[in-house]
Amino acid sequence: MKDRQLNVSAIKDGTVIDHIPAGNLFKVITILGLDKVETLVTFGNSFESKKLGKKGIIKVSNVFFDNVDINKIALVAPTAKLNIIRDYEVVEKMKVEIPDEIQGITKCVNPKCITNSEDVTTKFQVISKDNLKLKCHYCEKITSRENLNMI
Ligand code: CTP
Ligand code: ZN
Repeated sequence: MKDRQLNVSAIKDGTVIDHIPAGNLFKVITILGLDKVETLVTFGNSFESKKLGKKGIIKVSNVFFDNVDINKIALVAPTAKLNIIRDYEVVEKMKVEIPDEIQGITKCVNPKCITNSEDVTTKFQVISKDNLKLKCHYCEKITSRENLNMI
C-alpha cells in the first residue's frame, strides 16, 4: 500500500496534492504554473488507487497554496486532496471544493462575451458542481467542463 512512497520520496515542508485523476495530472501542473517555478516539484502518475483506478500525486516543497490556486485545483481535479507537510509530518489534510462563485481562473465560452474582448475579469455562478456548469455573470452563457479554458 505504501509503495508509492518509494517512488516519490517524502518532503520536509510543503504541499502534497494527492488523488488527482491520472489524466489530469499535467493540467494541474500547468494551471498552478509548476512547470515554471524554481522550487522543488516532484510528481508521479498512474499509481494504483482504489477509488480512481489510477491517480497522480504532486509534491511541492515549501509552497502552501492560496484559495485561488486551491479553486483552480478543484476545477480540474475535483477528487484531489491536499496534505500540508511540516517537518515531515502531515499537519493538515483537506479536500478541494468547487466554490459557488468563480472569479478569473476560467474564460467564458461565448466569443462575444465582454470578458473576451475587454479588460473585464470573468465571473461565474457555479450552477452544477458534479457535472461542472458555470453561468457567466455578464452574458449568462453556460461554460461546461468540455469547454473549460483556463486563463
Ligand atoms: N507525504 C509526503 N511527505 C511527507 C509525509 C507525507 O510526501 N513527509 C505524502 C504521502 O506520500 C502521501 C500524502 O503525503 O501521498 C499523504 O500522506 P499520509 O496521510 O501519510 O498518507 P495516506 O494515509 O495514504 O493518505 P490518504 O488517506 O490521503 O490516502
Ligand atoms: Zn460570458
